[in-house]
Amino acid sequence: MPTAVRALQGDITQLPVQAIVNAANATLLGGGGVDGAIHRAAGPQLLEACRQLGGCTTGEAKLTLGYRLPAEYVIHTVGPVWHGGDRGEPALLAACYRHSIEIAVAQGIRSLAFPSISTGVYGYPLALAAQIAVSTVRAVLKEFSGFDEVIFCCFSASDLQVYQRLLTAPPGAQPAPV
Ligand code: AR6
Repeated sequence: MPTAVRALQGDITQLPVQAIVNAANATLLGGGGVDGAIHRAAGPQLLEACRQLGGCTTGEAKLTLGYRLPAEYVIHTVGPVWHGGDRGEPALLAACYRHSIEIAVAQGIRSLAFPSISTGVYGYPLALAAQIAVSTVRAVLKEFSGFDEVIFCCFSASDLQVYQRLLTAPPGAQPAPV
């Protein structure tokens, strides 16, 4: 069965999936945006667990438990800061999605939700980031068969519209992932 890939609007901290992805920073010690929301909802044990991880470089990902979250696990990844697009941002953003999925596969995770990494504080234009998110997830999922569901959790209705347009377009209509 091919993995179901869909987008919805909501708060990622409330989703009943096995793992959620956090758009963190290199310290992994919390911040604003979705990172702050995840730490608040998971409780102080998440910060304790993150302290043991020694940070994370851009494009990489690391795993913790979800503590008080409905999700059993959190996969923390660090997206690129947008500097105009010519400092390797597309490849680094694609790496966040790829490495998060690889960690999920290694852990036997079957359902996973992503926020729109880098599109808040880090300033990545939503339409460009969503294109990379959708095309990379589609490409990486072709390599792994263990997932039931991958969700793009959009915080706003306008973000959801962008993701839904990409998800309903035929895969060939999108540029290849970087
Ligand atoms: N559920 C789903 N999506 C959310 C939620 C939520 N509860 N809250 C925000 N978003 P951002 P970044 C969306 O800024 O751009 C932090 O301080 C938000 O609307 O959270 O990767 C970290 O510590 C946007 O679409 O992450 C880093 O320092 C998306 O999540 C820095 O921000 C990502 O926005 C990372 O910046």
